[in-house]
Amino acid sequence: MAGTDPQKKGRINSESLDAFWMPFTSNRHFKRNPLFISGGQGAYYSTPEGKQVFDGLSGLWCCGLGHGRTEIVNAVSRQMAQLDYSPAFNVGSPIAFELADRLKQIAPENLNHVFFTNSGSESADTSLKMARAYWRMKGQPGKTKLIGRSKGYHGVNLGGTSVGGIGGNRKLFGSCLDTDHLSHTLLRENAFSRGLPENGVELADELEELVALHDASNIAAVIVEPFSGSGGVIVPPQGYLKRLRELCTRHGVLLVFDEVITGFGRTGQAFAAQTFDTTPDIINLAKGLTNGTFPMGAVIAKSEIYAAFMEQELPEEAVEFPHGYTYSGHPVACSAALATLDLYETDQTYARVRQLAPYFEDAIHQLKGLPHITDIRNVGLAGALQFAPRGANPTIRPYEIFRKCFEAGVYVRCGGNTIQLAPPFISEKEELDNLFNILSDVIQATA
Ligand SMILES: Cc1ncc(COP(=O)(O)O)c(C=O)c1O
Repeated sequence: MAGTDPQKKGRINSESLDAFWMPFTSNRHFKRNPLFISGGQGAYYSTPEGKQVFDGLSGLWCCGLGHGRTEIVNAVSRQMAQLDYSPAFNVGSPIAFELADRLKQIAPENLNHVFFTNSGSESADTSLKMARAYWRMKGQPGKTKLIGRSKGYHGVNLGGTSVGGIGGNRKLFGSCLDTDHLSHTLLRENAFSRGLPENGVELADELEELVALHDASNIAAVIVEPFSGSGGVIVPPQGYLKRLRELCTRHGVLLVFDEVITGFGRTGQAFAAQTFDTTPDIINLAKGLTNGTFPMGAVIAKSEIYAAFMEQELPEEAVEFPHGYTYSGHPVACSAALATLDLYETDQTYARVRQLAPYFEDAIHQLKGLPHITDIRNVGLAGALQFAPRGANPTIRPYEIFRKCFEAGVYVRCGGNTIQLAPPFISEKEELDNLFNILSDVIQATA
């Protein structure tokens, strides 16, 4: 009964290492060479040995305001004491309505109705189910096909896996939902572009081919990340998103922006939809909604979609959307989100990101020319370095670089053939300098 022995609380031995089947982790390597984080304050993690590690990915793209923000801690503990849980099925806690209204206020025009989830993956699947049900309500039940994008990432549930475009995340799971995929937007000639490369319209025009192939009468929605984070900061070439919007409107297909990473400041506005001046029909959120402090996601739908559900010919006591989670609108998560939204305002976070972004862009592009780097991409306060394979192995260099960087005091993410960076919005320029200096040293020391 080691687990109940208070003496052993917090201690880790080989059995407890084995007990936790870690997500998206090389479990075998980790368990022989574990790396632990035991504290977080501001832009830094601390290890059990007391080492400070700069958080170069804001956790997993979620803690832009930094760690240990007392405003969030206090709001959560107050809410925990007042109402730790209440269901949201047929009863409601006022705080969930307050948060929904707050999100509506900051969302792009006409995106007015918020459905709460607990993660980005749940937001993805919720939005896809919402899109398919919407068309059925509009008398077009054949519109079920979902269009994603190569290298896209929409979480790990079955819908998100189906529209996702990272082969390694799909291959083990057999047939998924009925989908097709746009090409990704990584063109060799655009390597080392600063910010958004040109000529996005032609790339988006590929949607015409998919419509010609499948017919719009069979397509429910196109789902894309405004920029793909997990795929390695794949930025939208200029005009790409607007063109997708035009084509979706023209063909009567819903456009879903998965803003799980891009929402809440990463591109210098609350939503990338605003940065790129393109309004989708549905926006998916998670991560920065609570600054990563509490699992929570949201799907914001435009008024016409909500109206279609509400206008069904159903008895008034009937459920219009048979979907939802035990923890949808969890009051403690709502308190974390409201405190987070307050901080984005009082810290003037989005303006700060806009101000830091050019410095970040200069700094990341100074790594050009270091060994094995084949591309550098950036947008807002996000960037990626792409590496050549070592032999036949495309992921080994980023993995080694991530490990060595952690040892040297900066946490960055390795994903596929890239190192991904998304420093906290509260970062100082000197901290960015330190991040890039360490990265540069580590890259040069990596074969
Ligand atoms: C665009 C996007 N969608 C969905 C997800 C999945 O979110 P979660 O891990 O909270 O399920 C992620 C996670 O990185 C993401 O980047």
